[in-house]
Amino acid sequence: MQIEIKNLYKSFGDLKIYQGLDLSINEGEICVIMGRSGQGKSVLLKHLTGLIQPDSGEILIDGENIVGRRERDLYETRRRFGMIFQNGGMLQSLNVAQNVALPLVEVNGESMNKVAGVVAEKLAMVDMKGREHQAVATLSGGQKKRIAIARALVQGADCFLFDEPTAGLDPPISKTVDEVIMQVNKDTGSTMIVVTHDLVSAFTIADRVHLLHDGRIVDSGTPGEILHSENEVTREFLERGIDVPLPGK
Ligand SMILES: Nc1ncnc2c1ncn2[C@@H]1O[C@H](COP(=O)(O)OP(=O)(O)OP(=O)(O)O)[C@@H](O)[C@H]1O
Ligand SMILES: [Mg+2]
Repeated sequence: MQIEIKNLYKSFGDLKIYQGLDLSINEGEICVIMGRSGQGKSVLLKHLTGLIQPDSGEILIDGENIVGRRERDLYETRRRFGMIFQNGGMLQSLNVAQNVALPLVEVNGESMNKVAGVVAEKLAMVDMKGREHQAVATLSGGQKKRIAIARALVQGADCFLFDEPTAGLDPPISKTVDEVIMQVNKDTGSTMIVVTHDLVSAFTIADRVHLLHDGRIVDSGTPGEILHSENEVTREFLERGIDVPLPGK
């Protein structure tokens, strides 16, 4: 999926969130969005899935503007987005296989038996082979994210949205989440959009990093370019997050 956001404006009452935000995301890339708390990163993900409408501007998904579309015309686009929530967004009363199969069983009305093969295949893709019967309450934080990715794969998503995927996870588990994001990106060619404060994760996985500040994307580049960026907002953001001297300082 290719995404182009053009001249986006959004306010909640007096609170200005976007003031002419532009952002391009290439098909198949891992795009990381960073920025201080409250700058509108999570709200941006909601704009992509049409859950929030902007005041003005365009959001082009593979060239088609979704701004102003009616709810029922957003259905097809929404199916293409896999939203990976903080806790995985799992139904606790269902086991792993039932959660992963949810888009096919609940939405398409298929039987668990019929979709077992697909479920097994997607579980293998996220390194959770054979976990079908496990209760979701017994999964670790990192495993919940893998299951959420498997469910999005079943749904047919070709763009995955991650809001703080490594928040609250210890470094070794964060690393496994980074790895599964990169693996699924490689295996499927899907576009990955990751909102994170975790600089190590950001610079490990990103093809491109974008800094959201005061309603706009103020800096964009490869991890290498961002690390050497002279943009003041970027410098300040990096210095707060990394307690070792940055290159060029
Ligand atoms: N539906 C809404 N109505 C009114 N204000 C909202 C709504 N959703 C978000 N906001 C406000 O918009 C601003 C941006 O919120 P958002 O959740 O996108 O921040 P964020 O960049 O994701 O921050 P954090 O890093 O803390 O998660 C916040 O001030 C928030 O309170
Ligand atoms: Mg947020």
